[in-house]
Parts: sequence; structure tokens; C-alpha cells
Amino acid sequence: MSKRFLAVLGATVLALGLTACGGEGAGGGGDTSGNKPADLTIGVAMPTQTSERWIADGNSVKEKLQAKGYKVDLQYAGDDIPTQSQQVDQMITQGADVLVIAAIDGTALSSQLQAAADAKIPVIAYDRLIRDSPNVNFYVSFDNYKVGVAQATALLVGLGLQNKDGSKGSAKGPFDIELFAGSLDDNNAHFFFDGAMDTLKPFIDDKSLRVKSGQTTIEQVAILRWQQETAQRRMEDLLTSSYNDGTRVQGVLSPYDGLSRGIITALQNAGYGAKGVKMPVVTGQDAEIASVKLINDGVQNSTIFKDTRLLAEQAVVAAEAFLQEKEPQANDTKTYDNGVKVVPSNLLPVQTVYKDDIKPVLVDSGYWTAEEVASGQAKG
Ligand code: GAL
Repeated sequence: MSKRFLAVLGATVLALGLTACGGEGAGGGGDTSGNKPADLTIGVAMPTQTSERWIADGNSVKEKLQAKGYKVDLQYAGDDIPTQSQQVDQMITQGADVLVIAAIDGTALSSQLQAAADAKIPVIAYDRLIRDSPNVNFYVSFDNYKVGVAQATALLVGLGLQNKDGSKGSAKGPFDIELFAGSLDDNNAHFFFDGAMDTLKPFIDDKSLRVKSGQTTIEQVAILRWQQETAQRRMEDLLTSSYNDGTRVQGVLSPYDGLSRGIITALQNAGYGAKGVKMPVVTGQDAEIASVKLINDGVQNSTIFKDTRLLAEQAVVAAEAFLQEKEPQANDTKTYDNGVKVVPSNLLPVQTVYKDDIKPVLVDSGYWTAEEVASGQAKG
């Protein structure tokens, strides 16, 4: 039986039995029903350890919950959907009291979430919305549409079509660009791409931007599971198929640093960035350390910083609210329709990081040290 169920039962018993006692000494965190944090377990399901951001996310959530005395069951699924389903199933049978899930495939967890609902375990979708299920109680993420807008804006700024303050830039184009998107089964990929395309469309329409390959739909440009190698291969194919006539690609919209590194490798292998051949403006996301170094070295144009420490904090706040029989506070109750219901969300702001922003935004806030930026490696 889930501890959560016991907790609810306990709360009822307390409510019935303690009216005469004149209030209770809640005494710190934990469940108002009387459970101590040490009696409560939060299951945290993360997608993969191949990307450093998810390692940082998992560690942050775990540390913050443990600091409050909770037990944490943190699992990574190696980007394998059956593994993640099995991990969530196991968390439920082992009596998790709240689940925090960053899904691999946002549509693949419906039966697990039904089991969670049956056991009265609240579910918090972490960063990626879980779709097609009524049993998602809350969503913590960033403003994903704005991430896409910021990526496209960085591309425009890098090409000189727009200035950082939003005014018209001095460049005219036309510029040849290519587009990349994330994994189609990740709800975020669609938000990023929509935000980016809404921003780029006027420039494509007035022909200051040209997607030379003609590949402009998300289905054509998506990279399954956000794999760096797949992005590298697609970039190689694009160079062979669309840039074998002496023209050069001048900008690449990339939605995630891992993909950007694959794209940059393909470009470097084809001679870009050397002997007077300019590296195109390549965007990114996540401020992964290897990419922050590339930005510092002038190879990658920019990244979008999403402070995973704050996201982890929000997940902890939401989990604690549920454990205390409260609803976590949402700042968006309209945007994230998961196909069955609109999931109340807490969305955090995002920030574009160009080379000049590395020190004030990433180093001064303690996200990365100056040494890590210089070496391109996290010290752990
Ligand atoms: C998305 C996430 C991005 C990036 C990507 C690949 O869901 O929002 O920040 O991490 O996955 O891992």
C-alpha cells in the first residue's frame, strides 16, 4: 500500500480525532498528516545521463529533497522508453508518495500514470509535459515558446538582420540557413520550433533568409531523441545535398547544445571555421559546459540558459505542496494542454547567453566556474 494512501488516511484520522487538541505542532516540512519527511519517498524519473543537463537536474532535485529530509528514488532510463515505464511502475509499487517525471516520450506513460492515480500519488511533469493522460497534476518548466523565440532571435542577431534591442539590423541578406528541431515525441520540441518559426517567418517571407534545402517542417528537421550523432549526420547530408555548388551555409537554427555540437563537428569536418571559411551562426540551448566553451572560443554563437537549479527548486516546492495536501502555485493555467486537460504550470524565464554574457550570467551566478568554461569540462 502506498505511503501516500496511508498519509491521506492518517490525515482523515487526525482531522476526526484531534479537534479537541487545539491545533497541531506541524514542526517543519513533511506531511501535515503527521508523516515525517523521512517517512516519505519522492520518485524522480529522468530520461538520460548522456546529456549533462539531466544529470544536473537529477542531482539538484535529489539534493534539495534530501536536504529537507525526504527519501529520494532517482532513476535514469538511458533514453529507453520501456526502461522508463518500468522504473515508474517500480516507484509506484515501492510506495512513492510523489512522482517527478521528465518523460522520454511524452505520450508513453499513460498506464503508469493511471496506476499512480489509483494509488493517489500526485505526478509532477518535470521540464517536459506528459501528454494524453488526465493523471498529471502539475508541470514545472520554462517558457518553452520563448526559448524558440530567443533561439531564432539569436540567429537573426548573429547574422546582423536584427540588433539585440530588437531593432532592424544593418545586414540585408539573403542568408542561407538550415533548421533543426528536437525529438518529435518531446512536447517541448514543438514549442521551441513554433517559437522559432514564428520569429523567422517574416524574414523567410521577405527572402532575407533562405532555407536552401527546402526542409522547413518540423517532421523534416526533427532529430529523434535529441541525438548529437544524428544531428551531425543530418548536417553532413545537408552539406552534400544542398551546398555542393560552392555556396556556404551561413546560419543554423539548433534547439539544443548537444545537437549544436554535432552540427559544428560536421561543419568543421567540411572545412568551416578554418582558412577563411566562416563558421555559420549556430544557436543552442542548456548552457552545457562543452558548448559554453565553444561560445567562449567564438565557435558557437549562443545558447539559451535555463537555470536547472531553479527548476529543481520548483519541483521540490511543488512536491512539498502535494505532500502537505495543498495545490502548488501555478503561474500559467492556459498554455499546456496535454490533449486531455490543461495542466497547471509553473514556468520559469529563460536567458540568451552570447559570449559577453558568460561571465555575468553563468560564472558570477556559480553555474560554471571560469576554469570549467576554459576547459569545457564540468568538475563535478
Ligand atoms: C528538452 C529540454 C531541453 C533539452 C532537450 C534535450 O526537453 O527542454 O532543455 O535538454 O530536451 O535534452
